[in-house]
Amino acid sequence: PITLALWCLTGTNLQALMEQVKKPSSSAEIVVVISNRPGVMGLKRASMAGIQTRVVDHKLYGSRAEFDGTIDKVLEEFGVELVCLAGFMRILTGPFVRKWSGKMLNIHPSLLPSFKGVNAQKQALQAGVRVTGCTVHFVAEEVDAGAIVVQEAVPILVTDTEDSLSERIREAEHRAFPAALELVGSGAVKLRDDGRIDTEQY
Ligand code: GRF
Repeated sequence: PITLALWCLTGTNLQALMEQVKKPSSSAEIVVVISNRPGVMGLKRASMAGIQTRVVDHKLYGSRAEFDGTIDKVLEEFGVELVCLAGFMRILTGPFVRKWSGKMLNIHPSLLPSFKGVNAQKQALQAGVRVTGCTVHFVAEEVDAGAIVVQEAVPILVTDTEDSLSERIREAEHRAFPAALELVGSGAVKLRDDGRIDTEQY
């Protein structure tokens, strides 16, 4: 089984992935949930589901390299083969990203490459676009720039606020992330050495 670890904030993407891996068709298993902050909802969701959790509080580390090194040790301890980031608001160092290249996915609440960075939903509203969405991509050294695995578009309504749009995007995320997990977990989609997607289909 593909084993995976997650970092999460409120953990709604974690919840969606937990549902996904329960399906008989899924080859994945969530073996550990890691958060860089104690007490977040995602840790509670994992514990309630009997999934092991770890907190690696970045404030306790003198450098990003030390923080990433500790995360890496936890991933190795659990035999993780695929890392899913959701709401993990830390920039990871080059060596860590290179080691997990092709084995680490992130979800971003816009149709990358549009609206990289924080407040992607707000950026879309302010840009006046009528369509935005979410992107699941391999994590690359450049932030929000890795090869794209799955995207789902959502409309922006004239009545939308940042909250109503974020809610609609999150619903799309809860379909896109499980889909991406299965594509990568089954080997249907791989990351090539040149950083582009290699698929069996085309
Ligand atoms: C999502 O909006 C995701 O796009 C962003 O962080 C949020 C995580 O939400 N990376 P949750 O913790 O999965 O509910």
